[in-house]
Amino acid sequence: MRSFQGRDILSLKDFEREEYFQVFRVADRLAPHARDRRNTDLLRHKTLLTAFYQPSTRTRLATEAAMHRLGGHVLGFSDAKMTRAGDFYQESIKDTVHMLEYYGDVIAMRHYQQGAPAEAARWASVPVINCGDGWGEHPTQVLTDLYTIWQARGTLDGLRYLLVGDMRMRTMHSILYAASQFDMEAFVVSPEDMTLLDEFKAELDERNVVYREVESVEKCIAEADVIYMEPVVQADYTKSREEVTEDRGRTPAAYRVTRELLRDRAKSEAIILHSLPRMDELPPDVDATRHARYWVEAFNGVVMRMALLALVLGAAE
Ligand code: CP
Repeated sequence: MRSFQGRDILSLKDFEREEYFQVFRVADRLAPHARDRRNTDLLRHKTLLTAFYQPSTRTRLATEAAMHRLGGHVLGFSDAKMTRAGDFYQESIKDTVHMLEYYGDVIAMRHYQQGAPAEAARWASVPVINCGDGWGEHPTQVLTDLYTIWQARGTLDGLRYLLVGDMRMRTMHSILYAASQFDMEAFVVSPEDMTLLDEFKAELDERNVVYREVESVEKCIAEADVIYMEPVVQADYTKSREEVTEDRGRTPAAYRVTRELLRDRAKSEAIILHSLPRMDELPPDVDATRHARYWVEAFNGVVMRMALLALVLGAAE
C-alpha cells in the first residue's frame, strides 16, 4: 500500500479501498484527544498553513482545530482579498504557493476554481490538502462522511444511498468517486438544472458506479440506508463570495427530508448526513430524530483532519 507521508489529498478518484480503512484506523486512534479535549504533541514541530479563497466555517476551523489538537502550529488567511492574490496584483497560484511552502509544512487550500489545489500541488514542495475547489471535489468532507457511516453501520458495503440536492456539488462528486471502491448503490435526486453532468456520468460508468436518477426523495427514501444531503437553494461555488441580495427561494418538496417523511417512509435505521450549512431542505426538527448524524459528522470533521494531517506529515501510518 502507498504511504501517505508527503502525499497530496486532492481527490477521492485516486483513493483505493484499503486506504479508506487505513485513514479510519488512524482517526480511531486519534479521536480520544478530540473527545477528551486533551491536546497531544504529535505534530509539535509542524505548521499548518490554511489558504482559503472562499468562505468556510467548518472545513477551515476543523482543520485548524485538528492541528491544535495535535500540538502543531497554524497560520493562514481566510480572505484572499487581504493578500496579493486578491488585490491589484492577482498573484498566481504558482507564485503564492512558492511563498506559502516556506511558511508551513502542509497547505490546506479552499478555492473557487476547480483544480486550484491541484495546481498548487504542482508547485508546492509540501503536501496540499484540497478543502473544496469550486464544483470540483471535497475529499476531506467525504472522508469524514464515510468515517461517520462506517462508525454507524460497521461497514461501507451493501448500503443504499439516497443522494439529494445539487449534483454539481463537490461533495457529490467525491462521494460518487468513493462509491467505486465499495458495494454501494445510489439513488440520485436533484432538480433538472442541477443534475449530474454528462462527462461525470461517463466517468462513473467507467468506474462501474451503480446509481439511478429518481425524481423525488419520496420515491426512494424507503430503500435508503444513508440519506446524504446538500441544498438546492444554493450558492455559486465558482465565485469567491456571494452576497445575498434577494429572496433565496424555498426548496421544493421533492428535495426535502422532513420529520413526517422519515416517520412514514424511512427505514428505522436509516441515517442522515449533511455536510452543512443547510437551508430549508432539512428542517431543524429532524435534529431530534434518531436518523440525524450530522452533528456526529461535525465532530468527526476534526478527527478526520487530525488523521489526515498526521498521515501526510509522517506522524502516523
Ligand atoms: N461542509 C463544509 O464544507 O462547510 P464549510 O463551507 O463551512 O467549510
